[in-house]
Amino acid sequence: MANQNCPSIVLPLPLNNYFKESVKIDKSQVLTALEQVADPVTGSNLIAAGRLTDLQINDNKVQCTLNFTESLSGEAKSAVNFACQEAIKKIDEGLDVHVHLQTQVRAGDPPRSVLPQVKNIIAVASGKGGVGKSTISTNLALALKDAGASVGLMDADLYGPSIPTMLNLKGKRPQLQDVHGKPKIIPLEAYGLKVMSIGFIVEPEQAVVLRGPRLAGIIKQFIQECLWPPLDYLIIDLPPGTGDIQLTLVQTVPVTGALIVTTPQQVAVDDALKAMNMFRLPSINVPILGVIENMSWFTPSELPDHRYKLFGEGGGQRLADLGEVPLLGQIPLEMSVMEGGETGKPVLLQQDKKSAAKALSDVTARLRVQVKHRNETGDPTQIVQIKA
Ligand SMILES: Nc1ncnc2c1ncn2[C@@H]1O[C@H](COP(=O)(O)OP(=O)(O)O)[C@@H](O)[C@H]1O
Ligand SMILES: [Mg+2]
Repeated sequence: MANQNCPSIVLPLPLNNYFKESVKIDKSQVLTALEQVADPVTGSNLIAAGRLTDLQINDNKVQCTLNFTESLSGEAKSAVNFACQEAIKKIDEGLDVHVHLQTQVRAGDPPRSVLPQVKNIIAVASGKGGVGKSTISTNLALALKDAGASVGLMDADLYGPSIPTMLNLKGKRPQLQDVHGKPKIIPLEAYGLKVMSIGFIVEPEQAVVLRGPRLAGIIKQFIQECLWPPLDYLIIDLPPGTGDIQLTLVQTVPVTGALIVTTPQQVAVDDALKAMNMFRLPSINVPILGVIENMSWFTPSELPDHRYKLFGEGGGQRLADLGEVPLLGQIPLEMSVMEGGETGKPVLLQQDKKSAAKALSDVTARLRVQVKHRNETGDPTQIVQIKA
């Protein structure tokens, strides 16, 4: 018998069309979905890159806000938006997904548009070639890593790349990763360092005949089209002198500070002073973190108390005094340093640490203090616009 209180209603459509079943999802499913979406800057995923700042789920409606501390092109934004929609809708087609992209710098953060994931960018420079920039860059990077930092090493010496040999990466080629339709270079890895060099792209023996604009293009590619992960330090090993590469670098990234390497003799100091002065030009304004004197003396193993000052003495201190910056250390001339460079096992990693390795560790400790001081007392470096 029909219930008198409930008269039957004849609906024109099936009941399901009036009450769409709501999809039950939780935040963890959305997080997992966003972990599948590549971050356009670092190439890691949006969650690992810390982009998600808000997530709201109401029945079928998913609203997420992503924050970027750098400006993205319109194309990159729509690629990310589309990829997020696609990933979240894989949970359920019926979801109503809204993705908001913000490009907002958090209070206190420097307004960085390039390499926002890198805390400190340190350029290693000199006046002359052969004074030990690449050796020092490599060993400093390793010593910083030993101290617990995440470190990248970029070989910007496009004419004479030595980092592939020094880190036993000769002949290795970096992989490419597609990030929202754009190929990006994945830096190679050696001893826990992320590494990029022109030597991974062309054979080191091959003469690289490049002029200003091409050089600039490569430096920019190494910075903007490379998937550098979040790093505490990116060490940039520069070619000698004050040329196009140095200028492009300061126009492309905000260099935290420069280290100047010299040997003790006056001719090296004179040229190193020019390199120091270039960074100090008012239009460039990159702080000098200190001077490192290399090849300060030679101690033969049979005469451990002797110091033969083959290249004279006092040059590093003189340069530091002229620049009113600290002398961060003196590195002796040692077979193990040279051998480390040749065999791809830097002296800092060798078991039986000689005095050069100790000196390099000490220099690194002083460098860390200098960087901290520089960040606490100075404004963030701005990328410079040099008018030709
Ligand atoms: N302290 C040192 N003791 C011994 N050999 C060194 C030392 N520093 C550098 N070398 C060697 O000198 C050469 C030039 O050093 P390198 O780092 O390539 O200089 P740069 O990058 O300034 O051109 C390399 O063969 C390197 O192994
Ligand atoms: Mg070099």
